[in-house]
Amino acid sequence: MLRTPGAVRDAERWTAHNYHPLPVVISSAEGAWLTDVDGRRYLDFLAGYSALNFGHRHPQLIAAAHAQLDRLTLTSRAFIHDQFADFCRELAELCGKDLVLPMNTGAEAVETGIKVARKWGYQVKGVPTGQANIVVAEGNFHGRTTTIVSFSTDEDARADFGPYTPGFTVVPYGDLDALTAAIDENTVAVLLEPIQGEQGVVVPPEGYLPGVRRVCTERNVLFIADEIQSGLGRTGATFACDHEGVTPDMYLLGKALGGGIVPVSAVAADADVLGVLKPGQHGSTFGGNPLACAVAVEVVRLLATGEFQRRSAELGARLHAGLGALIGKGLVAVRGRGLWAGLDIDPALMTGREACERLAERGILAKDTHGSTIRLAPPLVVTEEEIDHAVAQLAAVLAG
Ligand SMILES: Cc1ncc(COP(=O)(O)O)c(C=O)c1O
Repeated sequence: MLRTPGAVRDAERWTAHNYHPLPVVISSAEGAWLTDVDGRRYLDFLAGYSALNFGHRHPQLIAAAHAQLDRLTLTSRAFIHDQFADFCRELAELCGKDLVLPMNTGAEAVETGIKVARKWGYQVKGVPTGQANIVVAEGNFHGRTTTIVSFSTDEDARADFGPYTPGFTVVPYGDLDALTAAIDENTVAVLLEPIQGEQGVVVPPEGYLPGVRRVCTERNVLFIADEIQSGLGRTGATFACDHEGVTPDMYLLGKALGGGIVPVSAVAADADVLGVLKPGQHGSTFGGNPLACAVAVEVVRLLATGEFQRRSAELGARLHAGLGALIGKGLVAVRGRGLWAGLDIDPALMTGREACERLAERGILAKDTHGSTIRLAPPLVVTEEEIDHAVAQLAAVLAG
């Protein structure tokens, strides 16, 4: 008897229904492959929304975690531990920034970025108290806290969670004129995803990010790049901003930073920005804990080799060529960079959810975003053959 139906029922019975997972129950994984409770194998083409860029249970990361578990797991930031400095220094070097502030989840990194930008605005830029304003983009996804959903334009994410935090101006994504017009003397930051993942892997027009950089410099406004999903190799470069030669004032990082093992996020910025925080003004019990640092420093070392960025660029070209050939054969549009793709399926054929269910039946796990859009983000350890196999399965699903 199959174990999956009962396991799905039990999972639904004991939790709030804030997700609508595909009906697969995973019990083990390695590299790009997952195995369910009934022994069926799946290729992971979601990679934990990019939290698994290095695949499941990467040996170097698992070894680091095991070694750390045997020695020291938690201290709180009340004391310093011996993994902290290496992690912060190596991540700061990878980012080309002076300082790093570790947190846990992506939303916490975003909240940290917002708080730092506001404090910088009052203390450095001279914005009158309580007047700081941050420009954000339509279609954004930065996390789930009450402040962050306050400037979401997705009603599912936002509705009935008010009262909302003021201090944000929303402008269309990719429209430099609108962004420029929204900046005033009280604007402390522009907060953007360099590619909007949750919105369907939306790549802004060429020149947009350099334009944002230029305007932010001219108007003394911080450019905060939320690279939580787009960063750390996903797009074929360390950061999605790299493709256009742009360096933001602040990187927000998360997901893959934890190596698919522990939640690790971070803010990286220069001392004139992150230095506004003084003891007692911000923190997190678990932020920068020994286990997190031990794993994340190995993540940084994997990235420092450049191998994963190269794989993502090369294999991404193959993935996009394969997907591009399906336009007009069930796909309406394909977007993305590297091993990251947003696909619009012809809505007359099926919803994104239906496509993902049919892909799962064929052993490929992916996730819909909105309507008929699905997102593909395989681990960067995926092979050419596995990409070709996944594209062939998608073609079969689209062909009905
Ligand atoms: C761009 C971006 N920022 C922030 C977040 C929030 O991260 P977390 O779910 O770890 O809080 C996400 C999560 O999907 C994201 O894609």
